Amino acid sequence: MGKALEKIRILDMTHVQSGPTCTQILAWFGADVIKVERPGVGDATRAQLRDIPDVDSLYFTMLNGNKRSVTLNPKTEAGNRIFARLIEACDVMVENFAPGAIDRMGFPWEKIQEINPRMIYASVKGFGPGPFEDCKVYENVAQCTGGAASTTGEIDRVPLVTGAQIGDSGTGIHLVAGILAALLHREKSGRGQRVTCAMQDAVLNLCRVKMRDQQRLAHGPLKEYPQYPHGRFGRAVPRAGNASGGGHPGWIVKCKGWEDDPDAYIYVITQAQAFPALARVIGHEDWLEDPDYNTPEARLPRLEHVFSEIEKWTMTRDKMEVMATLNPLNVPCGPILSMKELAAEPSLRGAGTVVEVDHPERGPYLTVGNPIKLSDSPADVERAPLLGEHTEEILKSVVGLDDDEISAARAQGAI
Ligand SMILES: CC(C)(COP(=O)(O)OP(=O)(O)OC[C@H]1O[C@@H](n2cnc3c(N)ncnc32)[C@H](O)[C@@H]1OP(=O)(O)O)[C@@H](O)C(=O)NCCC(=O)NCCS
Repeated sequence: MGKALEKIRILDMTHVQSGPTCTQILAWFGADVIKVERPGVGDATRAQLRDIPDVDSLYFTMLNGNKRSVTLNPKTEAGNRIFARLIEACDVMVENFAPGAIDRMGFPWEKIQEINPRMIYASVKGFGPGPFEDCKVYENVAQCTGGAASTTGEIDRVPLVTGAQIGDSGTGIHLVAGILAALLHREKSGRGQRVTCAMQDAVLNLCRVKMRDQQRLAHGPLKEYPQYPHGRFGRAVPRAGNASGGGHPGWIVKCKGWEDDPDAYIYVITQAQAFPALARVIGHEDWLEDPDYNTPEARLPRLEHVFSEIEKWTMTRDKMEVMATLNPLNVPCGPILSMKELAAEPSLRGAGTVVEVDHPERGPYLTVGNPIKLSDSPADVERAPLLGEHTEEILKSVVGLDDDEISAARAQGAI
């Protein structure tokens, strides 16, 4: 069975994380992703956070699997011509340079459309139209300006950013959706279109429930937040520690070994329908008859006590034991799994979500494979390319250059 995006060719002008996340997913789906990199330098992340001297970093290799790398400087005369040919030969161009960078290379959207009216041109920028549209943006800036930081952290403590890269990878994933929609639309219209996704917008989209709470706040305190009933609510949605963002209260509680193990915790959700079983297992059968505890509404002002009682029980067992006990009772819960545990987890290896690939310079390394599973076209996770590894092959087979033309381009510093 073929790959879902077989025969779709992507001109990948991305760097760092947000754009590469997008094109890596497209590559896993089977698109031919041609990553264009600056001659001699490449994507800056090749050299960032290196663990092995002079070897492409894990930062780069984990975001650029299944792609082909061509070195090309579109700002040179020959590079400009080659780039125009690549635009002609590709279906989608993806970029996440600073605002205006591709225009400054001589390729505004109007020109791209002129060269290839079927081209879908997708960009990530920090902000959409408005006062900040020209700003350069990295992950944590997006988390701060998109509503994640103001709503993450402990009550009355500094705003926190999350380890999940919702600004970079989150926006890249949003962009994938836009590109696929534009590809489908092109089937009907015959024309490409512009796809843009701002990191602020993507983060805000992921913080949708907090915008929900902002509007609920106008009608009274947020009763599932730990500030209720004793704390004060201001005018904006506050940070809520580990409170659940949904309709069923939840919290992180300690498990056996928490004194030495920073990850000996579990998240427990007191879903209404599973609460009687949870109360029984922790030795609080009395709650089932007690009007202060036997309905979700009655428990809301007493959640701190409820979770401290649950914690007394969880502290007597390790987190996997707690999970094994609560799961059959249909109590939604999840142990805090460290990266070490996730890297070794057999089920994630089995599902192709954690994958080991071999690299000619660094040897085997672990990467996170495609989390999106297609039944008829599963992803084969391959290593990231070396800088310019496919330059000649692409210039010949995609651009149509011969050896002399390639030598001339090289002499100009175009490739
Ligand atoms: C991420 C970001 C802050 C990095 O900024 P930066 O390191 O200063 O890099 P820039 O994007 O400004 O690009 C640097 C230059 O490289 C040039 N360049 C890129 N590829 C090139 C190539 N193949 N050949 C020659 N020059 C190239 C660009 O033309 C640009 O030059 P210019 O500023 O003279 O026009 C910025 O790219 C950005 O804000 N991107 C949009 C938002 C985003 O995706 N952020 C998250 C990244 S994970």
